[in-house]
Amino acid sequence: MPKRSLMLALDVGTTKVSALVAESKADGEVAVLGIAATPVVGMRRGLVFEIERVALAIRDAANRANSMAGTSLTQAGVAINGDHLMLVPGQAKIALKTGVIRSEDLQQVMIKAAHVSLANDREVIRVIRRGISVDGFRGVVDPVGMVAHTLESEVFVVSGLNTVIRNLRHVISIAGLSVSSFVPAPEASANAVLSDDEKQVGVVHLDIGGGTTGVSVYRGGHVQHLGVVPLGGESITADLSMGLGVVPTQAERLKLEHAAVGSEREGTLEVRAVSGQAVKLIPLKELQEIVAARIEEWTDYVEKQLQKIEWTKGPAAGVVMTGGGSLLKGLDSHLQVRWGWPVRIGTPHGLGGLSDLSKSPGYATVVGVAKAMAQNKLEPEPETLWRRILQFWVNLWG
Ligand SMILES: Nc1ncnc2c1ncn2[C@@H]1O[C@H](COP(=O)(O)OP(=O)(O)OP(=O)(O)O)[C@@H](O)[C@H]1O
Ligand SMILES: [Mg+2]
Repeated sequence: MPKRSLMLALDVGTTKVSALVAESKADGEVAVLGIAATPVVGMRRGLVFEIERVALAIRDAANRANSMAGTSLTQAGVAINGDHLMLVPGQAKIALKTGVIRSEDLQQVMIKAAHVSLANDREVIRVIRRGISVDGFRGVVDPVGMVAHTLESEVFVVSGLNTVIRNLRHVISIAGLSVSSFVPAPEASANAVLSDDEKQVGVVHLDIGGGTTGVSVYRGGHVQHLGVVPLGGESITADLSMGLGVVPTQAERLKLEHAAVGSEREGTLEVRAVSGQAVKLIPLKELQEIVAARIEEWTDYVEKQLQKIEWTKGPAAGVVMTGGGSLLKGLDSHLQVRWGWPVRIGTPHGLGGLSDLSKSPGYATVVGVAKAMAQNKLEPEPETLWRRILQFWVNLWG
């Protein structure tokens, strides 16, 4: 019997750890066998702050996904998040000696393009291919065998801070697991929900989590931008808690049940903040004003990311949102009116098995990690930049 290709994907989010066990089938299908999410404390804005508590949540989520799948996988593909993630463009051009493009030429030009200069406190997480040009003609998909004088490649090198990467690897090892590969969280969540057509015509993806918002832009089939804004749904909850004088759990409940961007509902809500306290009357108007102020700030941050792209007409496929924060009532219509682009909530697609469980927009990142692992686009973790780049090549073209 052929060996089954099983994999474990992890997303250590600011509010929850998600784990997913999947099988990559010969026909290309990714079948979900187990999926679990465990609430976590000890993360801030996508970064690990309390090792022991985060490790407990990782262990719990991985155990539950493994036991649902009947597996005991310990090597995981892991999403990496946070506003330390940086995208640096690289490009290189080589003259061809033989006049025909060989796979070695492609390797050489990609390695050269990925050799960007990074500060000492950073390491490469992933190299994303942006485009290949042959004798100046852009957009070539598979240039091997073409007759040409020059070959040019453009890449994006995604790097992260050493200390953040080391701590994530460390907390995962304390949970009894190891990291087989990292994938940038905004790229993972985008890949879980965007179609090739959307990436071709132009699309903005926002993964609105608890402590972060991942922003990715695709056009012409390639990534144009990836970035992370250090703000998510938790800041709305914190503002409501402070502004209305209620405990965070109450503030969260008020947000989920009553907050709506752009709402003009009047009236008051009765809240008993802590046991024994008198009932508190909260004007809905005040609640909505607090939400609106934070959403205004958040929108400014996101727009700063979007300004990094030169738009002629905006993304033809509009904006696709994932993450729990995308479920805030009225957010889609607020953005649609403000930007004039269609906005929708994306659900992870292209999965078999227990796929219904993984269709929540909050699971997009972990699903994207599994998909990337299945496509074998992720390199095993080598120690040096050069081995990383070589391995990336072996996976991509091998
Ligand atoms: N129905 C809803 N309306 C508004 N906000 C919601 C809703 N459901 C969930 N949220 C918010 O979504 C956030 C959690 O989203 P998600 O699970 O995607 O975050 P995460 O992956 O843990 O965090 P991050 O991606 O920032 O590291 C919380 O702030 C929660 O309050
Ligand atoms: Mg997340």
